[in-house]
Amino acid sequence: MRMQGLGLTFITLPLVICAATGGQWCYDSQDPKCGPSHWKDFKATCGGDNQSPINIDRRRLLRDSNLGDILFEGYDQAPPGKWRLMNDGHTVMMSLEGESMMEHINITSGGLRDKYRALQFHFHWGSLTGNGSEHTIDGHQYPMEMHIVHMNVQYKSIAEAKGHPNGLAVLSFLFKASDTDNSNYNTIVAGLKNISREGDFVDLSSTFCLDNLLPDTAQLSKYYRYKGSLTTPDCSEVVIWTVFEEPILISQSQLNAFVTTVHFPATGSTLLKMTNNFRSPQPLKNRKVYASRDATISHSPMCSPSIHFLLPPLLALLIDQFSGPS
Ligand SMILES: *[C@@H]1O[C@H](CO)[C@@H](O)[C@H](O)[C@H]1NC(C)=O
Ligand SMILES: *[C@@H]1O[C@H](CO)[C@@H](O)[C@H](O)[C@H]1NC(C)=O
Ligand SMILES: *[C@@H]1O[C@H](CO)[C@@H](O)[C@H](O)[C@H]1NC(C)=O
Ligand SMILES: [Zn+2]
Repeated sequence: MRMQGLGLTFITLPLVICAATGGQWCYDSQDPKCGPSHWKDFKATCGGDNQSPINIDRRRLLRDSNLGDILFEGYDQAPPGKWRLMNDGHTVMMSLEGESMMEHINITSGGLRDKYRALQFHFHWGSLTGNGSEHTIDGHQYPMEMHIVHMNVQYKSIAEAKGHPNGLAVLSFLFKASDTDNSNYNTIVAGLKNISREGDFVDLSSTFCLDNLLPDTAQLSKYYRYKGSLTTPDCSEVVIWTVFEEPILISQSQLNAFVTTVHFPATGSTLLKMTNNFRSPQPLKNRKVYASRDATISHSPMCSPSIHFLLPPLLALLIDQFSGPS
């Protein structure tokens, strides 16, 4: 594996994830002393009011019927270059070899005012015994989460995009364990053993459309939208988040491959498995979470106004029943 020819893509892209902060940040599974609760000491932004991930409480969503179909450009074409899989020390990341390749993949519409171009995608996962998604839905954590990071095409660089509240758009997909392998993930799962250590990368032999990795297209109009941040330092609050309702199905053994194959950066001679590389939900504060036109909203039985209208007749009925013929 030559480090030569490591394109500009790779010099700049990991900045989205690890944004040079001076101090070294990590997850609690590596060392609680530099874990998420200390990130704000490295970077004040991590203690801000618009942080990600969040718990999505489906009883408190606001419906926005302007949140219609997202237009996915280039998601249905096998890209001309090769997919490059990399261990950046915090996650497993995929991008396209060659700096301009990802420019073929964009998203727009679905309530996004601008066009955003895909930069890379990566994963967050748990352990053999615990789930590891970053976003939770109604307090429920999923086994894994994928983030496809896009940058507003108005901006020339990630540094520039980070200066604007609409600089980045991240698509988030939750994973659910199923009984059978998801064959669309075979190439990625097989590649994990080639990127066991930090800095390793491998160009995958077979190419594929990004579409193949996602849930059925018909399900993609169901999503939740809010404004937040990167989930790793520097925690820049410049991300328009889209969290899809429909999970991606993947087998337990494919999930386990992430947990058992790749490692965090070595400290001395100890190699630590890369596990629990997720940040916990952050306070929503004054923010609102919107449901897309087609997303499912659950109604709280406690607060639903209809219950107040239903209750008196129901009570009357019960009293009627129990008083019986006398
Ligand atoms: C993505 O957007 C760029 C810039 O607007 C455009 O040149 C390119 O053709 C788009 N890709 C697709 C697949 O439409
Ligand atoms: C972990 O995710 C699975 C779904 O794959 C779910 O059945 C289980 O309840 C989750 N565990 C927790 C603690 O949320
Ligand atoms: C990945 O690793 C396997 C052995 O585990 C090896 O056979 C294969 O050539 C490697 N692939 C690349 C592209 O380096
Ligand atoms: Zn992420």
